[in-house]
Amino acid sequence: MKPVSSIPKVAGAAGVEPPEPKTGNAIQTPMWFIALLGISLYWGTMYLDRNGGGYNPLVFNRGERMADVEARVPKSDADLLVAQGRKVYDIYCKACHQPNGRGVPNQFPPLAESDWVNVDGANRLIRIVLHGLGGPISVNGVEYNNVMLPWRDQLSDDDIAAVLTFVRGNKEWGNHSGPVTAAEVKKVREATASRDSNWTAAELLAIPLKD
Ligand code: HEC
Repeated sequence: MKPVSSIPKVAGAAGVEPPEPKTGNAIQTPMWFIALLGISLYWGTMYLDRNGGGYNPLVFNRGERMADVEARVPKSDADLLVAQGRKVYDIYCKACHQPNGRGVPNQFPPLAESDWVNVDGANRLIRIVLHGLGGPISVNGVEYNNVMLPWRDQLSDDDIAAVLTFVRGNKEWGNHSGPVTAAEVKKVREATASRDSNWTAAELLAIPLKD
């Protein structure tokens, strides 16, 4: 009789386990790859978010040349002042003087082509915005007799300079007058600090247009 140890070893028999058959994907996706994918997706989304302009048509006008886009970006300080002035106008002036600056007959005088606005110097205009205006006033030969409220507590020197620059230089309204600086506004604000009532047209006409 042969000894037991000489029985040939067969896989599966006598303690030699065959490898477990694998189920599912034969190639396992490594964790680092999944993590990298996640990070790239996240980064890509953030990048688009920051630099994609939100697919805003202002940025992505099809067929538009770069020069057209650049033309809309404010370049000089004067451009920026006008942009700020337009905002101030929309909030503080538009309701009465109207989006087109033409005012409302018998109630609110026009700023467009106004003979009070288109003058050489902003001394009177700054006062009007700081302290308001009331009583009879003739604008382009038409009489008004109403009240405009003061804005000195709401508007900074910068805001007033900006809105007056926007109004005076507004070519679409037919205006053609020079800019107003915050320094000019500051000077008038200080010189009129004790004033606590609105101006009348008669009072303003006695004040020189500029210093
Ligand atoms: C509540 C209405 C109202 C608002 C808001 C208003 N105004 Fe007036 N504004 C008037 C009235 C009314 C007059 C004329 C006052 C009068 O009859 O004495 C006037 C007169 C003027 C004048 C001089 C006359 C002219 O037409 O050129 C200027 C300049 C002016 N406003 C600028 C402004 C600016 C700038 C703002 C915004 C910061 C503003 N107004 C906000 C009602 C308003």
